[in-house]
Amino acid sequence: MSKDRGNGHLYMPRLARVIRIADETYDTKTFTLRFVDEESQQQFSFRSGQFVEVSVFGAGEAPFGLASNPNRKEDFDITVRAVGRVTRALHERKVGDVIGVRGPLGNYFPFEEVFGYDILIVGGGIGLPPLRSLIEPMLDARDKFGRIIILYGARTPQDRVYKHLLSEWEKRTDIEFLQTVDVGDSTWTGHVGVVTTLFDKITVDPARTVAFTCGPPIMIKFVIQDLLAMGFDPDHIISTLERYMKCGVGKCGHCAINHKYVCTDGPVFSFRQMQAFREPL
Ligand SMILES: Cc1cc2nc3c(=O)[nH]c(=O)nc-3n(C[C@H](O)[C@H](O)[C@H](O)COP(=O)(O)OP(=O)(O)OC[C@H]3O[C@@H](n4cnc5c(N)ncnc54)[C@H](O)[C@@H]3O)c2cc1C
Ligand code: FES
Repeated sequence: MSKDRGNGHLYMPRLARVIRIADETYDTKTFTLRFVDEESQQQFSFRSGQFVEVSVFGAGEAPFGLASNPNRKEDFDITVRAVGRVTRALHERKVGDVIGVRGPLGNYFPFEEVFGYDILIVGGGIGLPPLRSLIEPMLDARDKFGRIIILYGARTPQDRVYKHLLSEWEKRTDIEFLQTVDVGDSTWTGHVGVVTTLFDKITVDPARTVAFTCGPPIMIKFVIQDLLAMGFDPDHIISTLERYMKCGVGKCGHCAINHKYVCTDGPVFSFRQMQAFREPL
């Protein structure tokens, strides 16, 4: 989980074109982006867990986790829920429009360090996108890992992102994938209950498993609580933290938690590291 200030000038966004837009839910879209300058695209490389600061000109700038497979070099994805000024302006962009991108920024999920371990991934709602950028390279290097168990929870069936990908994961025999919704509907025949209720449906050996989680703070809190009760070592629980950010590069202090900056020391932390903060979640 080392630091990375990103390539390019600290505060200068590079122009990127929207080349594809996918509707995920009523308020969430995935934008596939490619730098206008071909060389910038060729040189752009990131690790799972990193984020970018995206400028929608005239509206402002906001951070988003990189959501695509880092092994994919021709373009990259962000998945964005429309909640305010920047995100709504982004949702109004069309294919062909140009926006600004700074990054990649922040640290990243351990990858090579967890070779040989069983992997347990727990995602909630819009927390799945950064985990997708971890899951896909893990599936590319499937023989490097033990079991891969993926649990995903969303508020309703319609709130699930990447529905097509979830169907593909359900069919795979080399991973264990379970999904749930808090509230079902007439189309839903699957599990109903918060994501932690899926823990009853799996068996894991905490001594040989590393857990990764991303989602709303309340979900992360209960997931961590249950993982600890199952016997997980705090070093083997890896999560992301979300804080209001401005600069994204450790200069403005907006994202500080005690002596750490979420933008440069994180957004990925082990629970052991979070325990050292007085206000972890
Ligand atoms: C490292 C990092 C990675 C992130 N990755 C993603 C991502 O992949 N996809 C994504 O959609 N978002 C992501 N976010 C959150 C995203 O940056 C914010 O939602 C965004 O900054 C909101 O900007 P805005 O100008 O549209 O909203 P604002 O105008 O700033 O806020 C409008 C209103 O929405 C509320 N609000 C703001 N953010 C949220 C939120 N996240 N959830 C609920 N209410 C909120 C505010 O309190 C305010 O009331 C990430 C944040 C961080 C720090
Ligand atoms: S966002 Fe400026 S220091 Fe982290």
